[in-house]
Amino acid sequence: MNALALRGVTKEHAATPPVLALADVSLTVEPGEFVAVTGPSGSGKSTLLAVAGTLERPSAGTVEVAGKSTEDLSDAELSGVRCRELGFVFQQFHLLATRSVLQNVADGLLYRGVPPTERLEHAAHAVAAVGLAHRRTHRPDELSGGECQRVAIARAIVGEPALILADEPTGNLDSVTGAEIFALLHRLHEGGTTILLVTHNDELARRTPRSVVLRDGRIERDERR
Ligand SMILES: Nc1ncnc2c1ncn2[C@@H]1O[C@H](COP(=O)(O)OP(=O)(O)OP(=O)(O)O)[C@@H](O)[C@H]1O
Ligand SMILES: [Mg+2]
Repeated sequence: MNALALRGVTKEHAATPPVLALADVSLTVEPGEFVAVTGPSGSGKSTLLAVAGTLERPSAGTVEVAGKSTEDLSDAELSGVRCRELGFVFQQFHLLATRSVLQNVADGLLYRGVPPTERLEHAAHAVAAVGLAHRRTHRPDELSGGECQRVAIARAIVGEPALILADEPTGNLDSVTGAEIFALLHRLHEGGTTILLVTHNDELARRTPRSVVLRDGRIERDERR
């Protein structure tokens, strides 16, 4: 079973004139892979992640998540797929300012029918896994940028999704902190987490086991090391 399979995916953004952001993209991610996606600005990286994450529907082609096709699903069913099978990490951390680290992470299980005490137990594990156990009662405004991104990663992994989708997770961080976040993703990968990482940072991308380069909405290169 694939974690992700895009087959012949085209995405045209409705604009005047329309923008062809992805053109006939086919990409399969196996469970346990760590794939970096790079390419120039505007090459379609974020669009690829949005379509893979079922946040946007393709104009043509098919998207399978965790071995299940998504094209016949309703919007409500797609949000079910997102909360069960996918974890998202963005450049902006999207944490709730009024909630503690632990609560922010536990919220990653809100729509999965997990009882509150169990949510907190799972969250405590995820918070420890990103090295923030000592900060679990703190609020986001008491944390550094790198710590906030660790919280966002903990929230993404807490439900043990089939695939983590990360769009420029180091984009708002200085290079040292960005390297730490990358090292954390690497550790999670070594523990079996499947990751699709969009990054502008070619140096980081060279250190992932597989790297995909987009250009003008097409896959220019797809290399495993
Ligand atoms: N909602 C939209 N409406 C119209 N065009 C869009 C929309 N979103 C993206 N595009 C266009 O689609 C193309 C791909 O955009 P995308 O955001 O996927 O690029 P990217 O590779 O993530 O770029 P960056 O590195 O700057 O984040 C670009 O030409 C962009 O202008
Ligand atoms: Mg982008």
